[in-house]
Amino acid sequence: MPTLHWVGKDKVVNHHHDVPFRLLDKKYTFAAQEGAPLNSTGNRIIHGDNLEVLKSLLPEFEGKVNCIYIDPPYNTGNEGWVYNDAVNDPKIKKWLGQVVGKEGEDLSRHDKWLCMMYPRLKLLHRLLADDGVIFVSIDDNEQATLKLVMDEIFGAGNFVNSIIWEKRYSPQNAVKWFSESHDFLIVYAKSKEEWHPNLLERSDEMNARYRNPDDDPRGVWKPVDSTAQAGHGTQSQFYALTAPNGKQHTLPNGRCWLYTEPVFQQLVADNRIWFGSTGNNVPAVKRFLTEVKQGTACQTIWKYDDVGHNQEGKKEINDLFPEATVFDTPKPARLLDRVLRLATDQNAIVLDTFAGSGTTAHAVLKLNAQDGGNRRFILCEMMDYAETITAERVRRVMNGYGEGTKTVAGTGGAFDYYSVGPALFKEDKNLNEDVGEAAIRNYVAYTESIPAEKQSNTDNPVSRYMLGASDTAMWLFYYERDRVTTLNLDFLASLNIKALIDGGGKGGVKAKRKRPENFIVYADKCALDKDFLIKHGITFKRIPRDISRF
Ligand SMILES: C[S@@+](CC[C@H](N)C(=O)[O-])C[C@H]1O[C@@H](n2cnc3c(N)ncnc32)[C@H](O)[C@@H]1O
Repeated sequence: MPTLHWVGKDKVVNHHHDVPFRLLDKKYTFAAQEGAPLNSTGNRIIHGDNLEVLKSLLPEFEGKVNCIYIDPPYNTGNEGWVYNDAVNDPKIKKWLGQVVGKEGEDLSRHDKWLCMMYPRLKLLHRLLADDGVIFVSIDDNEQATLKLVMDEIFGAGNFVNSIIWEKRYSPQNAVKWFSESHDFLIVYAKSKEEWHPNLLERSDEMNARYRNPDDDPRGVWKPVDSTAQAGHGTQSQFYALTAPNGKQHTLPNGRCWLYTEPVFQQLVADNRIWFGSTGNNVPAVKRFLTEVKQGTACQTIWKYDDVGHNQEGKKEINDLFPEATVFDTPKPARLLDRVLRLATDQNAIVLDTFAGSGTTAHAVLKLNAQDGGNRRFILCEMMDYAETITAERVRRVMNGYGEGTKTVAGTGGAFDYYSVGPALFKEDKNLNEDVGEAAIRNYVAYTESIPAEKQSNTDNPVSRYMLGASDTAMWLFYYERDRVTTLNLDFLASLNIKALIDGGGKGGVKAKRKRPENFIVYADKCALDKDFLIKHGITFKRIPRDISRF
């Protein structure tokens, strides 16, 4: 498989492992005004660099996100936008400086963009559910490089399609070459076998093509071609067809009939072939509306009539913020609505880590309001306008906005607003104990892959050190902030192993279990010898040295 190389790639392919794990700091909860429907709850808006945010989301959301939409900077080199599109933003520059080292200053625009995107796509891939899908908006500046990088990260076999989105409705005349009127959405499934798009609702226009000129009791139908390409036919599909009025119909060059003669005559007898109102026309097969699928497969060209255009996106944001022009490049909510209809069910988790003005959240809220769903969004935006534009737009959509004839009713809903909090490990690799025991335990449980329902908290009635138990293993986290802990015989004797096995589940709920084969015990020190540990199936892990970094 061809792979793409660029300056700095070797510095970033594993960079996602080095990104410090930070806790997300909840700042406030917003809930729509009383009386508004509350089916859009459990949403999050996070202010921070998405690299750190993506990493922080892993323990809770790895493998759980159903639909990702991102609209990253297109890397146009245009510096004059509300956000900085060309990775020259000081925050990203600082990051490039730290990660790519001196080379960072010399990287070309494309190298820098790829360095920025690669670790983020790696983490996005991990967050996606096995039957999940990612849509990435992009234009010709980086579409070709993005495709190759996504082939590498998601697997070329999981590429679904590139969609052409007609973003402009009028041509630009002051151009040197072509008037560019489209962007792309590059679509990858986590696993192409597992993800299938929903059908789109049939439009009124599509249904209007079905009529009933012969009053067929089976309802409206439309005529479809009764021939196929000759190359697809067998010998029995080449014949002269006799119509009920005796007229002989011969095949045009290069065509065969769709059916063999006996089958065709059966269809004629069942009034499923249409020879026109006079009975003399070329035969057509009647396709009844009741027999077509209730939806239609989505095509790969998305026209602005159906999903909106750039100006529509701008108008939406101007209607929401009549007081000022706040954001230059919002996508239209209908574009996101199309993505959501194709890729989500009513309980989906939707992630957008280049949130901008929050169009993704707007579309989620609207669709939930329409179909009563409880899709949840997680948005991340790096700039300070995460609060003043992204979150503010969501508040206005939830509460309702506009005046007079332009009033738009609120969708209801709620969200929590977070910023990026402290790192779990200090620079000297020691634990940052200020984050609290619960956060440390959650992290260790995640790194040990203990499923949420098998984890235990410090309220466990048998032992506060119980971290979790599966059928084959039990984890103990022997940690005290104010003293050094030692795994020794006294500690083991203090544990009621039998009670732990039976009642060591979450919150100490009783559940008859087999004795696990392995006991994984975290402590500051170990006073037991190797033979003893092996004999009793105990693995000692030293705090913090043996707590894995991911
Ligand atoms: C093209 S805009 C997205 C517009 C959005 N789809 C909308 O409809 O409003 C890209 C956004 O990504 C944000 N961004 C860029 N790099 C980021 C990063 N590393 N972390 C979080 N947000 C970032 C930018 O600040 C900008 O708001």
